[in-house]
Amino acid sequence: MSDMQSRARTQRTLPASDFRLAPARLANRLNGECRGGVNLDQIEPTRLLQFLNVIRRSRVQILAEYSTPLAFCDALLNGRTSSRIASKAATLLAGYSSDLRDYQVASAYALLMGKHRRKELSAYFTPPALTAAAIAAAAPFLAGRASPSILDPACGGGAFLVPLARSLARAHVAKGARPVRACTKTIEQMQGIELDEGLATLSRRLLASMFYEEFGVALGREARSTIRRADTLITKLDQRFDLVVGNPPYGRIGSRLTPAALMAAGRANNGGHTNFYSLFLMRALDWVKPGGGLVFILPTSFVAGPYFSGLRQEILDRADVVRIDLHEQRENLFVGAVQDVCMLTLRRHSKAVGRAHHAYDIGIVDAFGGHKSIGFAETPTNGEPWMLPVATNRHIIIPTRLAQRASRYFTLTDYGYRIRVGKVVPTRERESLRTTPTKGTLPLLWASAVRPDGTFSATGGGRSKNPLWFLPPVKDVPFATKGPSVLVQRTSNRDQNRRLNAAPVCPKFLKVHRQHGFVAENHVIILEALDDPRVSPASLAQILNSPAANQRFSAVSGSFSVSAKILGRLALPDPDLLPLETDKKFTAKIEACFEAIDGVLVPLPNAHSAQHAVEKTCNLRSRVALDDDTRLKARRFA
Ligand SMILES: C[S@@+](CC[C@H](N)C(=O)[O-])C[C@H]1O[C@@H](n2cnc3c(N)ncnc32)[C@H](O)[C@@H]1O
Repeated sequence: MSDMQSRARTQRTLPASDFRLAPARLANRLNGECRGGVNLDQIEPTRLLQFLNVIRRSRVQILAEYSTPLAFCDALLNGRTSSRIASKAATLLAGYSSDLRDYQVASAYALLMGKHRRKELSAYFTPPALTAAAIAAAAPFLAGRASPSILDPACGGGAFLVPLARSLARAHVAKGARPVRACTKTIEQMQGIELDEGLATLSRRLLASMFYEEFGVALGREARSTIRRADTLITKLDQRFDLVVGNPPYGRIGSRLTPAALMAAGRANNGGHTNFYSLFLMRALDWVKPGGGLVFILPTSFVAGPYFSGLRQEILDRADVVRIDLHEQRENLFVGAVQDVCMLTLRRHSKAVGRAHHAYDIGIVDAFGGHKSIGFAETPTNGEPWMLPVATNRHIIIPTRLAQRASRYFTLTDYGYRIRVGKVVPTRERESLRTTPTKGTLPLLWASAVRPDGTFSATGGGRSKNPLWFLPPVKDVPFATKGPSVLVQRTSNRDQNRRLNAAPVCPKFLKVHRQHGFVAENHVIILEALDDPRVSPASLAQILNSPAANQRFSAVSGSFSVSAKILGRLALPDPDLLPLETDKKFTAKIEACFEAIDGVLVPLPNAHSAQHAVEKTCNLRSRVALDDDTRLKARRFA
């Protein structure tokens, strides 16, 4: 046994009393271990980073010495190596718990596979603390079952399977099974699917090594059959599971699947825009036993994003939402990827009950895997956004239910504005872009025209190098704006405090360009005042920039892009009640005005089809005109 193995083994020995814990408490205990057993208090993050940096820096050399990422990972795990790099990397892993070591080894594999392949597979692995939180969420589906069955349909480096196997085997031992029987029984209860051959093998080895280190049991062929190398999206399984758990691949399908394969996703299918995780979710739900559970780590976008309205409906057709927990950590959660994620827990319907309103728990998972429940929400049944907590300095829940007329809400349309999305796509119209004005050019406004303080700058501030002029194909283009308006950035980023960033177009600028107008780049939403708006552009920009509007918008948006459709449905205060002065008390007064509205979005009959038409424009590369939708035309979208 290598030095590293024996140290890990000593470290992970738990008191015998642990084996007597019920599965639910075992999972809690496991969760607790993330603070203690995974030794987060003792983790030296710099050493973990150093390890990853060694792999990144020495990738070419490692692959020259070891023919495959798997061969290098093997060397790390068995400690038998004469390679200087492998020895250095192994030293940096020494002393950590086996879960953390396994996570680092799997991450090394991912870094070695190369950026392209990694992205293609979405090989970004779940850190042990988050895995433990997911296992704790899954505990109710394991508790009270003598031999619960478990599937991870995208098992990567075994981030979920290994700790779950440990917990199941301990439970068997606690009930009196001998270690060999406990381990073989556990293996029979679990299945993993992984597309990458090397990762599938790595999972098997990490699983086998856990059984050996912790139970002294050397499993051979048995571990092989637990994890299959296959494509989950086309695999047929003849079994259903008590629990399906995991972190599926994220990313748009693009043209990677046949239309027939996509059709299987039902309303979750958005053509090439469909996300891999939607398909995994649909497929995984089919493999859950009635009354069984699913716990997935997913991007937050599906909770409220308009693109995922169909997915939300498909989910509710099959299951109840038990919990949605937002992960607090936004940066450095996954190695090499920045992603807002949440944990979705579903319970598969016992019989075909169809979609129904029901309450679910909302909580927060912190960087250590700790969980805090912060309230309840209800699932709307018609594809409307679900609720996530809005991240403020204290997490709050904004009820995302539809606004009721009785509470007197108004929309941008009622305020006297229409919504346009900037039509100029620079990558397509490169030849029409100019850095200086020439005959026939129109000013081109970019998202940077909205300054962080909510003011307008046609040049986008001093540092912008964007071409500021556009030569339209014809003289009077219908998409030029000539009147008072407000610009809203179509995407926000993490560094911005607000989700909605708006600025009124300066009257002086409008005066200069009143004859031919201006155009906007595709990352800009233009709110154009119609004849006699009930709210001035300056006030409207301030309302949209207010914390109250931002929190409400965040609650129903779930992504960093600002949907024109959602913006058009945001329930706004009665213009007659708005403060007249944009003075220091404006924010507090606006907050009070918003509080009088009892919902966030305005109901839209036939929302699904309308949504489809509008949301096409939210694809930054697509410019399908909103004008095509007659119902929206009536609502003065442009
Ligand atoms: C986000 S990673 C998660 C891995 C692991 N469950 C974890 O949380 O650490 C997604 C995994 O799915 C695998 N994968 C991607 N497409 C797949 C497919 N069509 N079928 C099976 N596995 C797939 C990738 O190779 C990758 O290991």
